[in-house]
Amino acid sequence: MAKRSGYAYTKQHIVKDTRTYFITGVAGFLGSHLAEDLLKEGHRVIGCDNLAGGYLDNVPVGVEFHMADCLDRAKMVELMRGVDVVYHTAAHAHEGLSVFAPYLITQSIYGATVSVVSAAIANKVKRFVQCSSMARYGTQPTVPFTEDMLPLPQDPYGIAKYAAELTVRNLCEVHGMEYVIAVPHNIIGPRQRYEDPFRNVASIMINLMLQGRQPIIYGDGEQMRSFSFVDDVVAPLKRMGTDAAPVGEVINIGPDDHVITINELAATIAKLLDFKLVPIYMPGRPQEVRHATCSAEKARKLLDYKTTVPLEEGLKSMIEYIRTRGPKPFLYHIDLEIVSDKTPRTWKDRLF
Ligand SMILES: NC(=O)c1ccc[n+]([C@@H]2O[C@H](COP(=O)([O-])OP(=O)(O)OC[C@H]3O[C@@H](n4cnc5c(N)ncnc54)[C@H](O)[C@@H]3O)[C@@H](O)[C@H]2O)c1
Repeated sequence: MAKRSGYAYTKQHIVKDTRTYFITGVAGFLGSHLAEDLLKEGHRVIGCDNLAGGYLDNVPVGVEFHMADCLDRAKMVELMRGVDVVYHTAAHAHEGLSVFAPYLITQSIYGATVSVVSAAIANKVKRFVQCSSMARYGTQPTVPFTEDMLPLPQDPYGIAKYAAELTVRNLCEVHGMEYVIAVPHNIIGPRQRYEDPFRNVASIMINLMLQGRQPIIYGDGEQMRSFSFVDDVVAPLKRMGTDAAPVGEVINIGPDDHVITINELAATIAKLLDFKLVPIYMPGRPQEVRHATCSAEKARKLLDYKTTVPLEEGLKSMIEYIRTRGPKPFLYHIDLEIVSDKTPRTWKDRLF
């Protein structure tokens, strides 16, 4: 890794090989935790966010923050001057909603990625880390999903994520910029926006139960997922920004050792809150993948990936965070582009 940014002094020691990072979506859940860790290591962090999601107070002190939209390519070019590594985390990460707001979500995932990667190449950035999603896999004949499977995304969110990967790969190979594709899945932890009715199942359930309200479960609740605590995602993500991660790799990030159903998730949260659970069941959402779990084998091998925070511990820290900030009414901040008999009543009739 070229030392374009020189050395930094911390109280404890001299940190060698400090770099300048640019993080899109730095007011978001994942971007803010990543920024915090990189700052602790003595690196310089520049970040942008348009506050379509996230919270302004997520942005760690020390980040050179710019209120900017990734679709503004000229601004991206300006902000990335002298940057060594770009993490593109910004997105409207609304998978379920994407069949009802496809234009917004495709722009936000695909359009924004093209803008950011193009600006990075124009600035001769050394390495680009693209945040994709397990939605790229869609429904596969077997679980857990492995990186060698042919992606079969089945909603505009997954399609845009996979298309964005292909464009990053294409442009980086043509123009010689290092790149790695991170495929995280179902991350939990503090700082996740919990008044968003369109995503973040664990946060929604906690916000509802703290208001004495029953959680709403789509379908029979037997969909299988595995959840990763944010710190366990940040560690391998940081490695992806260094030479430790081979160029051009697609790597799943998340546990494969604790798979639970949505019913079990609700029961676990209710137990932690001492809440009498009687979930409300609603029809399943269109295109929702029933069994979605990823293999972490490649991440273990290449990035020393480990699960260090058990699910209950992660949920406890989320409960603490939401309790401290206070439960909030849900904010329907995204307009539905398509309303039909397939649109969940939770969104059409604003039931949360
Ligand atoms: N959280 C998960 O479980 C999960 C799982 C798989 C993939 N991912 C991916 O990881 C990334 C981060 O997810 P997150 O959970 O932190 O989401 P988040 O919503 O908390 O953070 C995303 C941030 O991006 C910002 N943003 C959106 N569009 C923007 C734009 N055009 N310009 C500037 N800022 C913009 C939002 O305001 C928000 O602060 C996303 O790319 C998401 O698709 C997340």
